[in-house]
Amino acid sequence: MPMQPRERLIVALDLSSVEAAQAMVAKLGDAVSFYKIGYQLAYAGGLAYVSALTGAGKRVFLDLKLHDIGHTVAQGVKSVANSGASFLTVHAYPQTMKAAVDAREGNLRILAVTVLTSYDDADLAAAGYHATVPELVAARAGQARDIGVDGVVCSAEEAANIRAIVGTKLALVTPGIRPAGAAAGDQKRIMTPAAAIAAGADYLVVGRPILAAPDPKAAAQAIVAEMAHAKN
Ligand code: C5P
Repeated sequence: MPMQPRERLIVALDLSSVEAAQAMVAKLGDAVSFYKIGYQLAYAGGLAYVSALTGAGKRVFLDLKLHDIGHTVAQGVKSVANSGASFLTVHAYPQTMKAAVDAREGNLRILAVTVLTSYDDADLAAAGYHATVPELVAARAGQARDIGVDGVVCSAEEAANIRAIVGTKLALVTPGIRPAGAAAGDQKRIMTPAAAIAAGADYLVVGRPILAAPDPKAAAQAIVAEMAHAKN
């Protein structure tokens, strides 16, 4: 069954306290059903907030970008699965992805981060890689597919290329979304919600265009409406 547009919007709770997150979730009400918790909120009490969100019928994406020895990744993934979260990110190293996929339980799905979008070819070279960003993204997307990862986080610009590699079974989750006229902030590669859906994204991650809007609920509803009209 195709997903409703509202289920495809993930709002990034990039806020500094659980109180601020609770206030935003209350403001957004039934306009939003899926939330992302990243480093900022996770390390400010946000991990304990996951069960409150899932208890209220919301889905949670824990953007913790795990990367450690396999045993440690596996134990962490089991704890995250018990928290009720739906999505968890890991860095797309084969050993890490395999440990996470083997340890996932229940509703938890594992997403791979191929190459951080702040990296360019010079950053990769400085980190000891002998590949360009597109080469490494393509190689890691293929490994994610072969290992059985559930989805990939990528910019909407990369979505069509990654879809060609991973096929239709993996979910593509895309940040860097900006409705027409919204400030880009520090995002370098941005796309409108409709263009991202048309490019093959399954889920859109949106932070500041909703969090910093004068009326966050209206901003979320406008994005969902734009997604509903997009062709994919
Ligand atoms: O505020 P904005 O809409 O730019 O937020 C996008 C969210 O997606 C942030 O939480 C950011 O950390 C996350 N993200 C990203 N680019 C990636 C991976 C995650 O912007 N490559």
